[in-house]
Amino acid sequence: MHLFLLYLFIYLVFNLSRPLGVLAVLVNVTVDDSGTDPTTGVPIVYAPPDAWNLGQTCAACTAHVDSSIAFDHTWHDVSYNPSVDPTVVPTASLQFNGSAIYVFCIIAHTSVSPDGNSNMTFFIDGQVVNTFLQTPNNDTSLTYNFPVYVNTSLQTGIHTFMLQTGGLGSLKSLTLLDYIVYS
Ligand SMILES: *[C@@H]1O[C@H](CO)[C@@H](O)[C@H](O)[C@H]1NC(C)=O
Ligand SMILES: *[C@@H]1O[C@H](CO)[C@@H](O)[C@H](O)[C@H]1NC(C)=O
Ligand SMILES: *[C@@H]1O[C@H](CO)[C@@H](O)[C@H](O)[C@H]1NC(C)=O
Ligand SMILES: *[C@@H]1O[C@H](CO)[C@@H](O)[C@H](O)[C@H]1NC(C)=O
Ligand SMILES: *[C@@H]1O[C@H](CO)[C@@H](O)[C@H](O)[C@H]1NC(C)=O
Repeated sequence: MHLFLLYLFIYLVFNLSRPLGVLAVLVNVTVDDSGTDPTTGVPIVYAPPDAWNLGQTCAACTAHVDSSIAFDHTWHDVSYNPSVDPTVVPTASLQFNGSAIYVFCIIAHTSVSPDGNSNMTFFIDGQVVNTFLQTPNNDTSLTYNFPVYVNTSLQTGIHTFMLQTGGLGSLKSLTLLDYIVYS
C-alpha cells in the first residue's frame, strides 16, 4: 500500500509538472479547391485567374471527372500549354499555419483529350521543395485522391504553399487540383 502511494505520488508529480502544450495535437484542416479554409476563411489563390477553369462547369475541358468522387464535387482544371503561350505558367497558392501539408489532385493518364502529362513544381515559402512528374501510360481511367505533394516536417507556423504547373522547358502539363489538407 505504501509503495502504491509512493508510485501515485511520483506519477502525479511527474505529470503535473510537465509543461502543458509540449504535445501539440495535430488536427487536419481540409481546404477544398473551390472553398475556403474553414478555420481562417482563406481561399486557394489561382494565378493567372483566367487560366484556371472550374472543372465541374467547364464545357471545354477534356478531362471528364466524376464529380461524385471529387472532394466537395469540385476541382480546378488547368494546363500549361507551351504551344499556346509558354510564358503563362499557372500556379495555385495557399497560406496556412501548420507543420504538415498534403496536396491532392486527380490524375489523368491519357496522352490526348486530355493530355495527362504531369509536370508540377512545389514551393514552400518561395523555395522549390519537390516536383511531381508523370508521363501518360494511355490508361483511360482517372486516379482520384492522389497525393502529389506531402510534407510532414515543416516548422509549426505560417507557410505559403505553391503548386506550379509546367514552366519554361516543360511539355504541355495538366493539373486537376481537388483539395489541400494541412495540420
Ligand atoms: C491528415 O490527413 C492526412 C492525409 O489524409 C493523413 O495522412 C494524416 O494521418 C492526417 N493527420 C491527422 C492528424 O489526422
Ligand atoms: C499557429 O498555430 C500554432 C499552433 O496551433 C499557434 O500556437 C500559433 O499562435 C499560430 N500562429 C499564428 C500566427 O496564428
Ligand atoms: C500513348 O499513346 C501515344 C499516342 O498514341 C503514344 O505516342 C505513346 O507512345 C503511348 N504511350 C505508351 C506508354 O504506350
Ligand atoms: C518540407 O519543407 C521544408 C521547409 O521548406 C523543406 O526543407 C523540406 O525539404 C520539405 N520536405 C519535403 C518532403 O518536401
Ligand atoms: C518540368 O518543368 C520544368 C519547368 O518548370 C522544366 O525545367 C523541366 O525540364 C520539366 N521536366 C520534364 C521532365 O519535362
